[in-house]
Amino acid sequence: MSVRSAFSSSIIKKVWMALTGLFLCTFLIGHLAGNMQLILKTGEEGRRAFNEYAYFMAHNPFIKVLSYVTYFSIIFHAVQGFYLTYQNKKARPQGYAYTKPGANSSLPSRYMAVLGTLILVFIVTHMANFWWRAKIKEDIPLHYKTITKEQMQQKIKFTYILTTKGEYMPFSVKEENSGMYYDLRTGQPLMNKADSCIYRIKNHQELYDKETDLKITEGYKDLYTVVMDFFNPKKNDIALVYLLLYVVSMAVLAFHLWHGFASGFQSLGLNHKRYTPIIQGIGKLFALAVPGLFALITILIYLK
Ligand code: HEM
Repeated sequence: MSVRSAFSSSIIKKVWMALTGLFLCTFLIGHLAGNMQLILKTGEEGRRAFNEYAYFMAHNPFIKVLSYVTYFSIIFHAVQGFYLTYQNKKARPQGYAYTKPGANSSLPSRYMAVLGTLILVFIVTHMANFWWRAKIKEDIPLHYKTITKEQMQQKIKFTYILTTKGEYMPFSVKEENSGMYYDLRTGQPLMNKADSCIYRIKNHQELYDKETDLKITEGYKDLYTVVMDFFNPKKNDIALVYLLLYVVSMAVLAFHLWHGFASGFQSLGLNHKRYTPIIQGIGKLFALAVPGLFALITILIYLK
């Protein structure tokens, strides 16, 4: 390969690094906006808001395409980043032995590959915890609400499913003391829970009429409760470990973005005497605000 083509191919690689990196920055804004629902509203209101958002994200065709672009960008950005670091090391085997690195580059800029690797480890762990359960294992319970009424020394528990039409639909009725279920249509007592529901759940969130096998409606996956319980020390013995993992990872992300955001614009050739300092300023603000808010969400959930 000629020096010229090697140079141009490494420029092209940098442009791809920049495009995928900046795309991932827009992903972070969207993801943060959705996750803010976890703390902006409380109780059932917050639970509804977050589960509705997760449903929208999982069903909107445009967002689905964006999800695939996100997965591709993460893999591409990481692989290309490793390759460029390897090439740089090969081209300069002695490293900075005779120079002072701090003199012409900032600390985060010299550790981009290490920071990127730590972020990759975080993303893999994070997706194993949530994305895997929501998309592959599909064991997220449905969003339901229970109301217990006491009448004539009986404790009757009514379970409702929140439907995507925004209504709470009666799902099952149980007498707490005897453990007896009741048929929702006839009011007849039943011995087992499965018989008491007049709906059958298919595809983890679709509700079908048991008799006619017609689809009635859809429910929401209760991802909100899964996330809240994950960081809740009363529900999860290792919630503190997860909290620390998230907070430390967000600090790592902040360092990576501190250099990476503005560097992305530079790799795209957007260099301007007046605008480059503004982009650098926005990059530093972004690097502090976005990971800072992600970390704050997990801390507030933990302390709740
Ligand atoms: C407060 C911190 C965070 C929380 C509570 C959180 C929560 C979640 C949840 C619940 C999902 C699953 C959504 C679904 O599949 O329906 C998810 C997916 C994901 N998260 Fe996070 N997240 C956080 C921070 C981050 C950060 C900082 C990154 C990246 C550095 C990240 C990257 C991802 C990715 C790549 C996915 C898969 C997205 C997709 O399928 O389109 N998350 N997150």
